[in-house]
Amino acid sequence: MTKASNIPIENNIQVCPTQEQASITTAHLIADVIKSKQELGEFAVLGLATGNTPKLVYQELVQMHKNQGLSFKNVISFNLDEYHGITPAHRLSYHRFMRTYLFDHVDILPENIHLPFGTWELNKIEAHCAAYEAKINDYNGIDIQLLGIGRNGHIAFNEPGSPFDSVTRLIDLHPFTRNDAADEFGGLDKVPTQAITMGIHTIMNAKRILLLALGKRKAEIIKKTFESEMTPQIPATFLKARPDIEYIFDTEAASLL
Ligand code: PGA
Repeated sequence: MTKASNIPIENNIQVCPTQEQASITTAHLIADVIKSKQELGEFAVLGLATGNTPKLVYQELVQMHKNQGLSFKNVISFNLDEYHGITPAHRLSYHRFMRTYLFDHVDILPENIHLPFGTWELNKIEAHCAAYEAKINDYNGIDIQLLGIGRNGHIAFNEPGSPFDSVTRLIDLHPFTRNDAADEFGGLDKVPTQAITMGIHTIMNAKRILLLALGKRKAEIIKKTFESEMTPQIPATFLKARPDIEYIFDTEAASLL
């Protein structure tokens, strides 16, 4: 695959002609961080996302590992979220997703991989979440955070109503989010009702943030996010507090801007 040729709208918004090109652009930005940290002999701390959006990004990173020798040995990863009440082996767990799309195909060290666990017991979740935050801080924060956006404006599982100062915690999934997941779980009743998610504050602390949105389904929420004032009702609007956030869209996701 070749590097994408993009049409910049503003400095921090790139609109790429296709989903593939937007994904390749994103993968290159992440790979550049990994490589520049390697040159310094440092860890690259990646904040990673799941869902349909990052699949081609991970595919491109795997290609770069296999064909261009991109090593993940200096990568420390922290995932945004996980469904609560399912095991890492569950076919729809985010642990499984990350292994399937990225970790099983690159040379990341297993001890450098971090995700919340859906098996954390309810009475210990607060302590686990605090430890997750502390671990991110131990690595001096996230160097580059990849984000998708939900059609209700959630980022990670920070559902509408999530406050700006929220940190990693257990959250009730919004009916909208559960409906969107009903097909893959084989029915709404099988979709978990809760998840563990990094908070808005956790995300906003990342040194760099890339928000990737692909396809027509995302056009409406992208428009709303850009047009609305910051509000907990559309958690993605909080990203406006950081003018340096990099938005990468395909033409369809950007079609209503
Ligand atoms: P998607 O989900 O990538 O599957 O569209 C994005 C999200 O809900 O954050």
